[in-house]
Formats: sequence, C-alpha cells, structure tokens
Amino acid sequence: MNNYKITLLKGDGIGPEIVNQAVKVLDKAAEKFGFEVTYDEALLGGCAIDATGVPLPEETIAKCKASDSVMLGAVGGPKWDNQPGNNRPEAGLLGIRGALGLFANLRPSVIFGPLKSASPIKDEIIGDNMDILIVRELTGGIYFGERGRKEVGGQPAAWDTEQYTVPEIERIARVAFDMAMRRNKRVTSVDKANVLESSRLWRETVIRVSKDYPEVELNHMYVDNCAMQLVRNPKQFDVIVTSNIFGDILSDEASMIAGSIGMLASASLSGGKLGLYEPIHGSAPDIAGQDIANPLATILSVAMMLRYSLGEAEAADAIESAVARVLETSRTPDIYEEGMKKVGCEEMGDLVCAQL
Ligand code: IPM
Ligand code: MG
Repeated sequence: MNNYKITLLKGDGIGPEIVNQAVKVLDKAAEKFGFEVTYDEALLGGCAIDATGVPLPEETIAKCKASDSVMLGAVGGPKWDNQPGNNRPEAGLLGIRGALGLFANLRPSVIFGPLKSASPIKDEIIGDNMDILIVRELTGGIYFGERGRKEVGGQPAAWDTEQYTVPEIERIARVAFDMAMRRNKRVTSVDKANVLESSRLWRETVIRVSKDYPEVELNHMYVDNCAMQLVRNPKQFDVIVTSNIFGDILSDEASMIAGSIGMLASASLSGGKLGLYEPIHGSAPDIAGQDIANPLATILSVAMMLRYSLGEAEAADAIESAVARVLETSRTPDIYEEGMKKVGCEEMGDLVCAQL
C-alpha cells in the first residue's frame, strides 16, 4: 500500500482549524481508496516567530524537503505586524516557496453550481461553467528581486526590481501550455509589454515556447486590460499565465468572480513530485478559534495534492464531488444562503467525510 509522508504547516489564525478538517478528509480518502498517510508538523509564520524568533526555521525546510507533499493553512496576523519586513510571517511564506523551488502556482477559479448566486457578477456574464486556471510564476520577479533604500535628490527613496531570466519564463510557460493541453487548449499570457522590458522578454519567450504546442491557441493581454476583461467576460479565459506580482493581483480578482475566496484552493509546484497546497485565502485572525471558518478551500487543496503530487486522481475527483454535494444543503456562514443548514468548520469537515 502506498504511504505518503505529508508535512503540515498549520500556521496562524484559522490555519490550524481548517488544516484539521483537511486531514480528516484525507484520512477518510486514504481509507476508501487504499493508501496510507503519515503526518509530521512544522512551524511557519507567526507561530514560528513566537517559538523560534524566525518565520521559517531551518527545521521546517528540512521536514518539507523530506516529505512527499506539504499542506499549509495560512500565516500572518496583527500580532506580528510590527516585525521588520524580512521577519514577518509573509517572509516565511516567500522563503518556503523559494527554498522548495515552488516556481509554479496554480490557482483555479471555478464556480460550484450551487454557489453561483454568491458571485457579485451577473449570472449571464459568468455562464454555467466558468473555469479559469491562473498559472502564476512564484519564485521570481519583483518579489525576489533586489530591493533597497537610497537617497534621490537628498530625499529618502526606495526601489524594487522586476527581473526575469529566459529559463524562468520558459519553465512557467511550459506548465501553462501543459495545463492547457489537458483543458480547453487556450493560453492567455498577461504582461505589460507596452511599458516594461521584462514583459517584452516574457512575451518573446512565451511565443517561442508556444511553437512546441501547436494545438494550443495563444493570445497576449496587457495586465490592465486583463483586469477589466475578467469582470467583463470571464468566460473567454481558459489558462492565464503571468508573472509573480500580476498573478498575485489577478488571482484575488478571479477568486471573487467565483463567489467566495473561502472556496478556492491552490497548488505550488516544483516540477518534481513535491508540492505545497494551500487555500488562497488568509489567516482571518478575527474569526480564529470560533469554529466558523470555511474549511472547503483547504479540503479542495487536498484534492489538488492528490491529483498533482500523489497520483491519486480518483480520490481527488471523489473529494471534489463530495464538496459539491455538501454545498447543496449545508453552508458555513461566509457562503450561507436562506434555506440551507448553517454549519461550523468542524461539522463541514464531517459532512464532506460522510459524502466520501
Ligand atoms: C498570496 C499572498 C502572498 C503573496 C503574501 C501573503 C505574501 O497574497 O499567496 O497571494 O503575495 O504571494
Ligand atoms: Mg495574494
């Protein structure tokens, strides 16, 4: 029987409670589909700062590297807002992405049928099966470029650098084209090539890579136009590939089109088996510990982990169907609608297990 070693980074705020539900669902899937999972926990973010003084202890990197995959809850909270920039919980998140080489971030924006009314966009604009996959470059660009403070004309100033190498662009482009081949064979590459040199290199490189994927239709869009097109006509998109910072911004926008940020999962991939899976929402410290958080994004992240890292596609499909069925009758407060049963985090996890 396959045994998978999973490192849990529960993190801060609602992180522990949502990860606990995800573990419950993964254990149930293991029992049903005939595999075993062993867990190890490690510290990341604010909890790591409290325990060790830094947001990403060496031990955490070592444990993650030694596992088949990593599940992350969420990091951050007001308690650590006064930490210097390079010691904030968020720095731990960027650090683990870099340390594990997780260059490809997949952020699907899908609407679960029963949740259509939760989207702020009109029904006729969303259509029946909005399904966008944002492929965000995750270990380069301005997030990882050189930065600093200096003086300009006697005034204090600050600078950050957006830089991409050709191999960095090629490998993320390949992920996007490979994904498109399994989907509707369309890729939109998003850049700001009318202004930025790094974007001009991005565009040239994506065009060159596209020659290896003659079946995929490629188009290019400036990031400002893309932000507008996402609300004007989201159905036009299949796969969007873009830089680290543009992907950060556009994926929040796309998540809202899908109704609730509490529903969306993400995968960060290294090109090998190891991946890191997390909900795209944050640590919601205001509702932590009250058993009202929505664990579904984390549970759906488990499905992505089963599909992309562990090769258990059947179990992944089963979890996604179980979530869809539960949504027909039961909702956490963030996605509550009249006529439904209002449930907490723990009960939501139990309901998904029962449907599996
Ligand atoms: C995300 C988050 C992070 C990012 C923050 C917390 C550093 O917004 O995963 O989208 O900007 O990448
Ligand atoms: Mg973000």
